[in-house]
Amino acid sequence: MKKNFFIAFEGIDGSGKSTQVKLLKEKLEAAGLKVYVTCEPTDSPMGKMIRDIFSHKIEADHRTIAALFVADRLDHLLNKTNGILKMLEDGYTVITDRYYLSSYAYQSPYMDLNWVIQANSLSAGLLRPDLNIYIDISPEISIERINKGRTSVELYETIGNLKNVRDKYFEIIELLKNEEKIFVTNGNQAPGGIANEIWTEISNRFLEDPENKN
Ligand code: ADP
Ligand code: TYD
Repeated sequence: MKKNFFIAFEGIDGSGKSTQVKLLKEKLEAAGLKVYVTCEPTDSPMGKMIRDIFSHKIEADHRTIAALFVADRLDHLLNKTNGILKMLEDGYTVITDRYYLSSYAYQSPYMDLNWVIQANSLSAGLLRPDLNIYIDISPEISIERINKGRTSVELYETIGNLKNVRDKYFEIIELLKNEEKIFVTNGNQAPGGIANEIWTEISNRFLEDPENKN
C-alpha cells in the first residue's frame, strides 16, 4: 500500500481549484489510493457562519473573520468523525481546497500578517501540507470566470482585492520558502495542461511506482 499524504490547493477565487481537485482525485484513485476531498470554509457551524458573512447575510469585522477561520480550521483538523487527522489515520490521502495559506493571503491585507500566522500556528503545528499547490491566474481572468453565471458578488471578490490577495500569495511563498513546500502552477492554461503539470509534480514526489507516473 502506498503511503498516504496531505495536499492543499491554493489560489485566488475562480483559479480552478475545484476543477483540479477533482482531476487529481481521479488520478490518485486510478493509482490505487483512497482519497478524501474536503474544503475550507467547511460545512461545520463555524464554516456556515463564515459563508453567511461572505454572502452579506451577516456582518463582521475582518479580524473576527480571521478568528472564525482559525476555529473552523481547528475543527477541520480535529473533528473526531471526519477531521483531516482522522482521515489520514484511516489511510486516506487528503486533498483540501484551501488551508492556512488562504488565511495568510486573504486576511493579511486587512491586518498584520504575523498575527494571522501566529493565530494559525496550532494548525500548522498539528499538520503542514506535504505539498501546497498554488494555481496562479490573473485577477482579470478570475473576475471574468466568477461573474459568468453569477448575480451576486461575495466579500473579497473584487478585482482590487484579488490583486492584493495574489500579491500576498507571492509575498508568502517567498517568506515561507524554507518552511512550506509550495508548487506554483500556471492556471492561465486549459484544465488538462494544469492537471498534467500537477500530476508530474505529485507522481515525482509521492508515487513509487513509475507505471503510475503518466
Ligand atoms: P475555484 O474552485 O478556484 O473557485 P473552479 O474550479 O470552480 O475554481 O473554476 C471556476 C470557473 O472557471 C468554473 O466555471 C470552471 O469551469 C472554470 N475553469 C476552471 N479551470 C479552468 C481553466 N483552466 N480554463 C478555463 N476555465 C476554467
Ligand atoms: P471558496 O469557497 O474556496 O471560494 P472560491 O471557490 O471562489 O475560491 O472560499 C470562499 C472564500 O473564502 C474565498 O473568497 C476565500 C476566502 N477565505 C479566506 O478569506 N480565508 C481563509 O482562510 C479561507 C480558507 C478562505
